[in-house]
Amino acid sequence: MSGYILSVDQGTTSSRAVLFTTEGRVHGLAQKEFSQHFPNDGWVEHNPDDLWGTVLETCRKVLSENAISASELIAVGITNQRETTIVWDRKTGKPVYNAIVWQDRRTYEYCQSLTEQGCAELISAKTGLLIDPYFSATKIRWILNEVPGARERAERGELVFGTVDSYLLWHLTEGKEHRTDATNASRTMLFNIHTQEWDDDLLELFDIPVSMLPEVMDSAAHFGVTGKTLLGEEVPVLGVAGDQQAALFGQTCFNEGMAKSTYGTGCFLMLNTGEKALISKNRLLTTVAYRLNGKPTYALEGSIFIAGATIQWLRDGLQLIKGAADAEPLAQQTPLDHGVYMVPAFTGLGAPYWDPNARGAIFGLTRDTGIKEIVTAGLQSVCFQTKDLQKAMESDGVRPTTLRVDGGMVANNWVLSHLADILGANVDRPEIIETTALGVAYLAGLQAGVFESLETLQSMWHCDKRFEPGMSKATRDDFYAGWQDAVRRVQS
Ligand code: G3P
Repeated sequence: MSGYILSVDQGTTSSRAVLFTTEGRVHGLAQKEFSQHFPNDGWVEHNPDDLWGTVLETCRKVLSENAISASELIAVGITNQRETTIVWDRKTGKPVYNAIVWQDRRTYEYCQSLTEQGCAELISAKTGLLIDPYFSATKIRWILNEVPGARERAERGELVFGTVDSYLLWHLTEGKEHRTDATNASRTMLFNIHTQEWDDDLLELFDIPVSMLPEVMDSAAHFGVTGKTLLGEEVPVLGVAGDQQAALFGQTCFNEGMAKSTYGTGCFLMLNTGEKALISKNRLLTTVAYRLNGKPTYALEGSIFIAGATIQWLRDGLQLIKGAADAEPLAQQTPLDHGVYMVPAFTGLGAPYWDPNARGAIFGLTRDTGIKEIVTAGLQSVCFQTKDLQKAMESDGVRPTTLRVDGGMVANNWVLSHLADILGANVDRPEIIETTALGVAYLAGLQAGVFESLETLQSMWHCDKRFEPGMSKATRDDFYAGWQDAVRRVQS
């Protein structure tokens, strides 16, 4: 089959449109950043018009810059920042409030009251999630309670909810389709991951009308058709997945025990557990990895809120470096026994600590601490946080057989080599590091019949570089003990 697959990757800080060939190669890419809004302490919002606007703009741009017409597109796939919550008018598409971003902590007190009421077990058993403002349910409830008239309109059936994929699909299909996929649904805290249905008990607990919710589809399915005027031709949308699940799919981690770690704004380590929805005893999340032909595959996930964002902060906040690429040579010049630890708990700590009130700190400063030690400690914090997740998974009785990495930070060889040392495990970087966009192109391509099977996709994965551990166990344990001590000191 000839033609292209267009992947929309709507992330936390930018929207990207990536064109893939039917061999799974990147043919073109357009990217656009948009504004972040912080209206209150711990609040993070996006303007939904910016999300849709930058998606449409980048899709049009990647087509025109590569002189490709929409008639050459076989399918569109959508992957997205997960959990981020939008409520809009079913008829006009007008949002009643800004998108409340996954990082937003405004529902912290309500979450605490849920814990005090003893809801943790029920929620975890049904959704695989922990009570935290991270997920969509408490954000929807906040909008219904706080935006004047919203609850009444929702009860009259006038308002709908969606994660970013649903909102984009609604616009791409010019208001015709209100759908999502099982991976995105599994992040809302309203979806029963065992029955694969919206859960009545949870809808009652959060007081959310069922009429607001999108239809849940497989990750590879016929989601709808793009409006003719948008790209120039109608194109079917055949794949949808949350960005971390799409990355797992793009890394072709289809076998039980395979894991990937994506280093974007945050870091998300996901391990395929096959048909089993393994419930963690170590505060990891159980989530839908993908759903094909009605059959869910599950994953265990460790979510860290700040990874690449540390480097952004070193660059824009502290202005210690001019660009992300400056960090690697600085780390190379720094002996590892510098004794500085940075805990980047800017928005609290995610897995396995789940402490929304923790805040960041730098420990071990001496008179001879300089820029390079602080930058190196920032890079190391990403490795130590991954180690926390590895340990939690091991305590749950699963050890990743492989760790495949992707995301912006994996261009940094020093980080990957240090990561292999700290984990005591091999770390594999694939040839194509646009893994998130690739994953949803694979899903859309499977549905279109471009790719025959999961085995075909696995044969297309190629390793660019394997990083092997070179550090002794004693040294590794020593460094990690220092990190654990630093983390203890920032916890609330
Ligand atoms: O769960 C949040 C995650 O999906 C955000 O990913 O890459 O937009 O930071 P990213």
